[in-house]
Amino acid sequence: MAFSKASVREAEVSGRRVLVRVDFNVPLADGVVADDMRIRAALPTIELLRERGAALVLASHLGRPGGKVDPQLSLKPVGERLAELLGTEVVQAPAVIGGEVETMVRGLGPGDVLLLENTRFEPGETENDTKLAEGLADLADLFVNDAFGAAHRAHASTEGVAQFLPGYAGLLLEREVTELTAVVESPKRPLVVVLGGAKVSDKVAVIDRFLDVADKILIGGAMAFGFFRAQDVPVGDSLVEGVELAAEALEKARDSECELVLPVDLVLGREFDAETECRESSGVEVPDGWMGLDIGPRTGDLFAAAIADAGTVLWNGPMGAFEMEPFAAGTRAVAEAVAKAPGTTVIGGGDSVAAIRKFGLEDEVDWLSTGGGASLELLEGKKLPGVEALVDA
Ligand code: 3PG
Repeated sequence: MAFSKASVREAEVSGRRVLVRVDFNVPLADGVVADDMRIRAALPTIELLRERGAALVLASHLGRPGGKVDPQLSLKPVGERLAELLGTEVVQAPAVIGGEVETMVRGLGPGDVLLLENTRFEPGETENDTKLAEGLADLADLFVNDAFGAAHRAHASTEGVAQFLPGYAGLLLEREVTELTAVVESPKRPLVVVLGGAKVSDKVAVIDRFLDVADKILIGGAMAFGFFRAQDVPVGDSLVEGVELAAEALEKARDSECELVLPVDLVLGREFDAETECRESSGVEVPDGWMGLDIGPRTGDLFAAAIADAGTVLWNGPMGAFEMEPFAAGTRAVAEAVAKAPGTTVIGGGDSVAAIRKFGLEDEVDWLSTGGGASLELLEGKKLPGVEALVDA
C-alpha cells in the first residue's frame, strides 16, 4: 500500500512559515547531545524546506518533564548540535508559545530556523490541549510532521496542531511508515522476524501479528524465558515475564504456518553483572543459582542461517545483555548476520539499533528506524495519531 498522506514535497512553502514537529528526544550527557542520530535523520526535511524558501519553526519534546520547566531538559544543547549540522544559526526560543515567541517568529525570513523550547514543558502537550495546539498553529502557515518517533502519541504538537493547520508528512516520517509497512504488507519471502529484549508484554501484539504474516519468528533475549516457563522448562533465576502471553503465542503458533523458533542453548551468569561467573550451557534448562543472559553459539548459528536465507529480515530487540561483553556474542552474531544478509533488512528501533551501532554495522542495514514505541505500534497494525491527522494525498 502506498503512503497515503500528503508529502512535504508537494507543499507550497516558499515565503511561508512552517511549523515542523521533529523527534529530537535524544540522549544528553554533561549538557551535550550524546547521540545525534535523530537530529541527523530530520535534516533532509529541514534542508528541503530551507531550500524552498520557508521559514522554519521547529518543535520537539525531550524526555518526560511532566508539564513543568526542567532546565536539565532544555532543548538548548540540541539546538547547538543542530546549528553545527546545518552550518547555520538556530534561533532558540525561550518557551513553546507566547508573546515573546511570536515576536521572534515574526522576525524570521526565508531559510531561517527557530527551535521552540521542549513542548513537554507545557502541561497541555501530553493532554493534547486545544489551546496549546491553537497557540502552536498561530506560529505558522502550515504544519509538517517529521517526528516519526513520537507519531504514536496524540499530543498537542503531533496530532492536535494538525486540526488547525494543514499537515504534511516529512521525508523521514514518510520513509519510516513506507519501510515498516512494506515489511508487513509486501515482504520478499521468506520473512524472518527476530525478536528479543526483556519483555514479552512489549512485543506480544507484534508476535501475534507476525504469526499471521511471517515465515519464521526467532525469539531471543530475556523474553525467551517467558516461553520456556510456559513450556515448564526450568529457568533458574532468569528474568521471567509474560508467561501467559507466551503460552497464548505458543498455542497460536501450533496452528500457524509461521515457525516460532526458541533458543537451543544459552550463556548463563550467576548475576546480572559483567564481572559475574559465567558459562555456556548446551541446552536451555537453567539451574537454580544461574540466569540466562545470552543465547548460546548454536542458537547464534541457527538464527544466522535463517537470516541468511531470508528475503526480508525484521529485527527488534537484543538477544542478551549485550552491553556486558561476556553476554554480547549472541546479539553480535545476529547483528553480523543482518549486516551480511542478502535480503532486505530492517531494524525496528530501540535497543537493537543501539546494538547494531555498537558493533559498527549500521551502514550495512537497509533501514534503521528512529522510532521505538512508534515502530512497534505500526508493526502491530495500529494507526499512529500523528500520521492519521495529516492531510490525505
Ligand atoms: C521515543 O523516544 O520513543 C519517542 O521520542 C517518544 O518518547 P515518549 O515515549 O516519552 O513519548
